[in-house]
Amino acid sequence: MLKIFCFLMVSILPLVGPYALANGDIAAGEKKSMLCAACHGPDGNGVEALPMQPRLAGQHAEYTEKQLHDFKSNSRKNAVMAPMAAALNDEDISNIAAYYKSLKGTIGTSSSEYLETGERLYRAGDAATGLAACMACHGPNGKGNPAAKYPSISGQFAEYTAAQLKAFRSKARANDLNNVMRSIAGKMTDVEITALADYIEGLH
Ligand code: HEC
Ligand code: HEC
Repeated sequence: MLKIFCFLMVSILPLVGPYALANGDIAAGEKKSMLCAACHGPDGNGVEALPMQPRLAGQHAEYTEKQLHDFKSNSRKNAVMAPMAAALNDEDISNIAAYYKSLKGTIGTSSSEYLETGERLYRAGDAATGLAACMACHGPNGKGNPAAKYPSISGQFAEYTAAQLKAFRSKARANDLNNVMRSIAGKMTDVEITALADYIEGLH
């Protein structure tokens, strides 16, 4: 048993990196999030009318921390988020990540038009094009895997999800370790992106 545990620790730790071990202070994170609420919503669920600004509520702290560090170092390039992240120190980042993790995420709806294609691609991928099943990493309900920093994508605005998939495809977003999402999105057509993004908005 101990042997298995040690093996798991050794194999998981390099994936987790230095930030995930910090325990954020939720109350301090809430204070720091005042500025963020204008765009990400007072409850972290975004603003319906502005679906390019993602929902953060319920997201794994490990993933949120990584994104904030990536915006800060410019390895994830975004003109709006870069100055926001630049103003945060490591402690603020782990507190904010803990705060958003503590909020309950809301789920949107999938339209019936894309349900069948979206669900099929999500669960099984596409053997003909070599597209991986999203479920393998993001989980059957889209809740991801915190230790591996696979984000929760369930309930996210379809417009934001589609924009991220296109950004990975064009490599405008290149902060995914080992090219994982860039190579997956590179196999996707616009129609597949639309169907998956729509399906994911209602997935839970
Ligand atoms: C003026 C609007 C605005 C403000 C204020 C803002 N954000 Fe953002 N945020 C965005 C947009 C737009 C994106 C999407 C960036 C992209 O397309 O890559 C984003 C993305 C993010 C992401 C990535 C989410 C994901 O799922 O990958 C995180 C985390 C985040 N913001 C946290 C914050 C925090 C913390 C603050 C406050 C310190 C903040 N934001 C303030 C607009 C804003
Ligand atoms: C091998 C594991 C793996 C598979 C399979 C996978 N993903 Fe991902 N995905 C990731 C990782 C890791 C990230 C986070 C990258 C980073 O650190 O920014 C991610 C990020 C994302 C994001 C960005 C989330 C956000 O909040 O910005 C979306 C959207 C996404 N994946 C959708 C998909 C879809 C759709 C599929 C299926 C076609 C899929 N993924 C298959 C590992 C995977």
